[in-house]
Amino acid sequence: MNPNKVPKLLLFPLTSEVNSQGHLCIGGCDVVDLAREFGTPLYLFDEFTLRGKCREFKNEFSKYYSDTLVIYASKAFLNRALALIFKEEGLGLDVVSGGELSIAHSVNFPLDKVYFHGNNKTLEELNLALNWNVGRIVVDNFCELELLNTLAKERSITQDILLRLTPGVDPHTHQYTTTGTLDSKFGFPLATGQAEEAVKQAMSASNLNLLGFHFHLGSPVSETNPYELAIELVLHFSQEVSPKYDFRLSEFSIGGGFAVPYTLDSKVPTVADYAISITHKLNNLISQLGISRPRLIIEPGRAIVGQAGVALYTAGAIKEIPGIKKYICIDGGISDNIRPPLYGAKHEALVANKALETEDDIVTIAGKLCQSGDILVRDTNLASVSPGDIIAIPVCGAYSIPMWSNYNAMLKPAIVMVDNGKARLIRRRETYQDLMKLDVT
Ligand code: LLP
Repeated sequence: MNPNKVPKLLLFPLTSEVNSQGHLCIGGCDVVDLAREFGTPLYLFDEFTLRGKCREFKNEFSKYYSDTLVIYASKAFLNRALALIFKEEGLGLDVVSGGELSIAHSVNFPLDKVYFHGNNKTLEELNLALNWNVGRIVVDNFCELELLNTLAKERSITQDILLRLTPGVDPHTHQYTTTGTLDSKFGFPLATGQAEEAVKQAMSASNLNLLGFHFHLGSPVSETNPYELAIELVLHFSQEVSPKYDFRLSEFSIGGGFAVPYTLDSKVPTVADYAISITHKLNNLISQLGISRPRLIIEPGRAIVGQAGVALYTAGAIKEIPGIKKYICIDGGISDNIRPPLYGAKHEALVANKALETEDDIVTIAGKLCQSGDILVRDTNLASVSPGDIIAIPVCGAYSIPMWSNYNAMLKPAIVMVDNGKARLIRRRETYQDLMKLDVT
């Protein structure tokens, strides 16, 4: 298929093409058939793209920095089927809750490759992590440092930890997803001296083994410069505190935040661009400062699952206000993708059963939930839509699903994994019974 004919295909999973009926096909499956078989809204993941992204991160970074561990940031979306794929691909996992940890545990994910993040891990969660021998706990604040040491002492174990540092670098992301600046609920700030105090306390804690530092600047970070700046600040800090507290940096996590294009006009660095800029900065500083090479940890979430995931909807009511707007109403909305109103996130869309038709109509795609802000795509070019058409929205694999809700008692969609002409259900659609099963009367 010539992507010049359907440029939007570039945003869809790598296996996307248009068949002789003019239908969008992904992973060798006609998505119009999938919509019919599994119902809509339907989320699908393309296994080839998913595995390809895991390998791309591993290859691009280890090309220039051989001791790199890629850990997938589960918050972008984790369920048991995905966890199995990441396990097979040899990735580690970043988890931020007992829930994410439990999913990993349920598929026998190697828990020594799990990094437990979070600014307020509960006692129960820390106990669970220690029971299951989680590889690293990324300590976020002084309360946690003390509590974790006490819990490790009670068990007579030594827990490996990293400290989360706040380098004070602005990644220019949406304010809701900026984390690297001084005024953040996450981490020990470099600027206030609290980072140094944390090193001091961690090094003198009887049952903690401080292996290194972590930072995460924000998401998505569409430039490479903020990473370089933060690496420089943290490595200089490390160099300064190492002799004072007899600390050696053996692991260095630069977090996630790697951007992906959501629309045809978005320009973001490629995985190779991030890899080159980050590893070159790191390699240069290591030789300049004469320090031994730490293991590099990277935590991509969005850039692994984003493009692999597509949302499918059926068009229903069409409302045209002459001279104002044409609304195409779909059978999902902000209950399955809150990102457009929450962050002003942008998407493209394609009429999956009319993929080759010219896109002369300018329409707004609205959900079916009871609020005016329930708009997924504004003023976008589409082929002329009739009720019953299938609307496909690309780059829905990251963060849409974990933020699903039952607002308006909407049922959460099914998810299928497609590969080589086969589709398998990896999460079934909710039923009305599911909606009520936790109610007690
Ligand atoms: N590591 C840490 C410590 C993080 O907090 C995050 C994301 C990541 C890694 C992965 O970042 P990624 O590579 O996926 O950009 N709900 C928002 C995104 C919140 C990101 C939170 N932390 C959204 O829908 O855009």
